[in-house]
Amino acid sequence: VSLQTCNTLRLPAKAAWLCRVKNIEELCEALDWADHRSLPTLILGGGSNVIVADDFPGLVIKVAFSGRCWSDVSAESATLELGAGENWHATVMYAVRAGYRGIENLALIPGTVGAAPIQNIGAYGVELSHTVVDVQVWDREAGDTRTLSADECEFGYRDSLFKRHPDRYVVLRVRLRLSRKTPLNLGYRDLQEFFEENADVGTLTPEDVARAVMQVRCRKLPDPDFLPNAGSFFKNPVVALGQYRTLKERFPELVAYESADSAKLAAGWLIDFCGWKGYRESHVGVHNRQALVLVHHGDGEGRELLSLAARIRDDVKGRFGVALEVEPRIFPVELRSEFGF
Ligand code: FAD
Ligand code: EPU
Repeated sequence: VSLQTCNTLRLPAKAAWLCRVKNIEELCEALDWADHRSLPTLILGGGSNVIVADDFPGLVIKVAFSGRCWSDVSAESATLELGAGENWHATVMYAVRAGYRGIENLALIPGTVGAAPIQNIGAYGVELSHTVVDVQVWDREAGDTRTLSADECEFGYRDSLFKRHPDRYVVLRVRLRLSRKTPLNLGYRDLQEFFEENADVGTLTPEDVARAVMQVRCRKLPDPDFLPNAGSFFKNPVVALGQYRTLKERFPELVAYESADSAKLAAGWLIDFCGWKGYRESHVGVHNRQALVLVHHGDGEGRELLSLAARIRDDVKGRFGVALEVEPRIFPVELRSEFGF
């Protein structure tokens, strides 16, 4: 079965088997089926954070649980329960149109609700973890469902318990606590600039912010339907303050976000500085407006993309002494060690 339309990099890999599951019975049936045949499994949502760089010799399970349901509604806030297969961006628009705040800065992030907690999606100063009440999972080790509180999910920057145990948990449902009153988060530089040009900040609705985020994103990030990509290819590296200050002395233009004991460097700036922005070699390349996004121009293969990524990583390491970590998940897993990821 071709996976080309199931991943936003549009890499031409095939899976031995593929199925779609709409409820827990179908999920368990699919997992048992693969276990009995000793086949590896790959849980997939919208395929916007995976690099299927070669054929997958097992069962790909597309999670398509649907459902949206409000509960604990008060004048101030409400809980929104979502099936893992719901589209993330459609969910954001649904919530903001109902007047709720909390996820408007996460508009236009591709993919499903079920994948959102895996890497704790984030953008424009907001992370999913800020609104999560709990996440219901199928625990493959325990053979049972479990509901994990936000604390138990161990969310971090592009990280969670689920990302660290990819073969153990399948996300079934996510509950978010959304507010009618919390202040809008307009602190991210791109949003500040957008509203300086465009609006009276005092009267903004969450829908206005979602629409602003959409416009800002469209200026920089390529639409996978026109230029296949998986968003940021690397995480922004977090380094000790000492290392950051030394780098900043050598490279005064370096962009970074400082916290009390560390600094998160803008990987896009590092890659851009090395001259890779807009680079192209036959089928793959680096986006010309955002150097952190690697793109597939068509007819390419996963290995070409991983080879380019490895050279970028080595260049950044050589110039700045900073290690870049790949953000999306690479399949099949053997390819990670082949390219040193
Ligand atoms: P998939 O790619 O299908 O899966 C991603 C990972 O999660 C895989 O390891 C998969 O096995 C696992 N997974 C998926 N569903 C489940 C489930 N139900 N249970 C258990 N595991 C599961 N991300 C951000 O954080 N911020 C951004 O601003 C952002 N911008 C992007 C822009 C573009 C143009 C693109 C292409 C991607 C961007 N991303 C961003 C990355 C991506 O959209 C998110 O990571 C998204 O959550 C992936 O959703 P998906 O359904 O496509 O996941
Ligand atoms: N920059 C450059 N050159 C570039 C790219 C970026 O100099 O080619 C500089 C920018 O000028 C800016 C800084 O780097 O000063 C940061 O760039 P940007 O605001 O575009 O954000 P980012 O750090 O590159 C992160 C996330 C994105 C998210 C945006 C907005 C990571 C790995 N990426 O990108 O998430 O949308 O912030 O919050 O944290 C994703 O995860 O797939 C993703 C797109």
